[in-house]
Amino acid sequence: MIEVLRIGHRPARDKRITTHVCLVARAFGADSVAIDTADRSVEKTIQAVNKRFGGDFKVRSGVDWRRHMENFEGFKVHLTMYGEPIEEIVDRIPKRAPLLLVVGASKVPPSVYRMADFNVAVSNQPHSEVAALAIFLDRWFLGKQFRREFGGPVEIIPSARGKKVIDRRSEEE
Ligand SMILES: C[S@@+](CC[C@H](N)C(=O)[O-])C[C@H]1O[C@@H](n2cnc3c(N)ncnc32)[C@H](O)[C@@H]1O
Repeated sequence: MIEVLRIGHRPARDKRITTHVCLVARAFGADSVAIDTADRSVEKTIQAVNKRFGGDFKVRSGVDWRRHMENFEGFKVHLTMYGEPIEEIVDRIPKRAPLLLVVGASKVPPSVYRMADFNVAVSNQPHSEVAALAIFLDRWFLGKQFRREFGGPVEIIPSARGKKVIDRRSEEE
């Protein structure tokens, strides 16, 4: 079980990037996202994606991040450019226990660095929570995440050119 915890979400500013955090988490093998600030619109966007493309990926917002981190039973991995290099540390993170992947938006409170079991850098250069999450999940699953079946009514058929899509919704409705 992998959950992503998004800290510092500012609805007016971060809606799009937090939505991308959720989409990447869903597509790259995580199971859920918890967002600290309440934002129903992000939840609704991901529910709409689940409805079309399948799966039961969960997003909840308005989560007390501190309590969530304190109570989480598993390993807490904070993605930060100040952390230890992913290539050196990823194999030291136990594989079987649930994982909480913490990503920030604005400045992350110093206590997060202490509460995390691992502070992991995806390069020690500043970039994006979306990129950091994508690379971490890819190194974690080693590509196997892309074989996951979502089983939704809308299915994309890989194609060298153009768009091939099976849309079973009209049959169902
Ligand atoms: C745009 S950054 C802002 C960080 C903020 N300036 C700070 O000092 O905490 C947002 C998030 O992206 C992630 N991030 C950015 N660069 C990263 C890196 N090189 N490795 C891992 N995560 C990174 C972190 O989770 C960070 O909290």
